[in-house]
Amino acid sequence: MNKNTYSIAVIPGDGTGPEVIAEGLKIMKAASEINGFKYDLIEYDLGGERYLRTGETLPDSVVEELRKMDAIYLGAIGHPDVKPGILERGILLKLRFLLDQYVNLRPVKLYPGVETPLKNKGPEDIDLVVVRENTEGFYVGSGGFLKKGTPDEVAIQESINTRKGVERCIRYAFDLCRKRNKAKKLTLCGKTNVLTYAFDLWDRAFKEISMDYPDITTDYAHVDAISMWLIKNPEWFDVIVTDNMFGDIITDIGAIIQGGMGIAAGGNINPQGTSMFEPIGGSAPKYKGKNVINPLAAISACQMMLEHLGEENSAKLIEKAIIKVLTRDIKSLSAGEMGYGTKEVGDLVVKYIEEL
Ligand code: IPM
Ligand code: MN
Repeated sequence: MNKNTYSIAVIPGDGTGPEVIAEGLKIMKAASEINGFKYDLIEYDLGGERYLRTGETLPDSVVEELRKMDAIYLGAIGHPDVKPGILERGILLKLRFLLDQYVNLRPVKLYPGVETPLKNKGPEDIDLVVVRENTEGFYVGSGGFLKKGTPDEVAIQESINTRKGVERCIRYAFDLCRKRNKAKKLTLCGKTNVLTYAFDLWDRAFKEISMDYPDITTDYAHVDAISMWLIKNPEWFDVIVTDNMFGDIITDIGAIIQGGMGIAAGGNINPQGTSMFEPIGGSAPKYKGKNVINPLAAISACQMMLEHLGEENSAKLIEKAIIKVLTRDIKSLSAGEMGYGTKEVGDLVVKYIEEL
């Protein structure tokens, strides 16, 4: 992209979302002053608070405005007083679907200074990316009930996989693997031994598309085996591509092996449209307003957003500053145990950006 002025939509959302987004914005400002890019911020009030106040989740007019933005920076959606599913389906998944953000990009990188629960594994072992399909599978909401609430009740939930949807996700993963230029190995994560329709399509598409990428080594593993190996041998993986549901599950394994929700960030990518970047930790309502939540995941999401916009120097600078904070300053990634407050961690990142 790399144009003069980016228009960035900011959705602070619920719980600790606004606090961590404020730190990310502070870091973006510092990076912009050094590297000379410009941006306009447009804030949107979406989330549980608004829903409880007005009954609205995501108005169509907002979606139309968001379509015109260069990127969306999202804090967290989720509220203890709202029934599960309403905000997730009504805001987060609706944005992913309507903006056709067909890849959920989840880097899993263990930074120096961060503790992993894996014995004898360090930063050289944990550096992979999961490319999760983000608009299909079980998430489309296809299915229904028969005889609901009776002893004869039937519940059906179908996984929808289209050739087009699968193909564009797999192509994205091959391109990313080439661009990363590390082990140049792409692993398809599926369940071809049981889900013989859905993953037959994935498997055939994967093999056909691999012909266009002779420089990339391909591999296949079932999702259950991958869940085991991500813990036993994370160093085996470079890029993993998978469907929406399996991707949801294995990216939480990824998050915990890289140090947890205090550091894990993700992007919802539409390479031709508007992409959205978020810390994946959720709204953590019990820490709201206490200045104890770790902002580094939101700062990493900001880094991903700048990289996506083509501001690679700023992205690299932010990553270096994060690593400095992790190795020199903070004691733990957990809320309340960092040895610093949310704002102070943000200030440290800014300080290192300015020094570097
Ligand atoms: C994620 C989250 C969402 C998902 C929820 C909140 C709907 O777990 O981004 O991984 O399942 O995709
Ligand atoms: Mn998830």
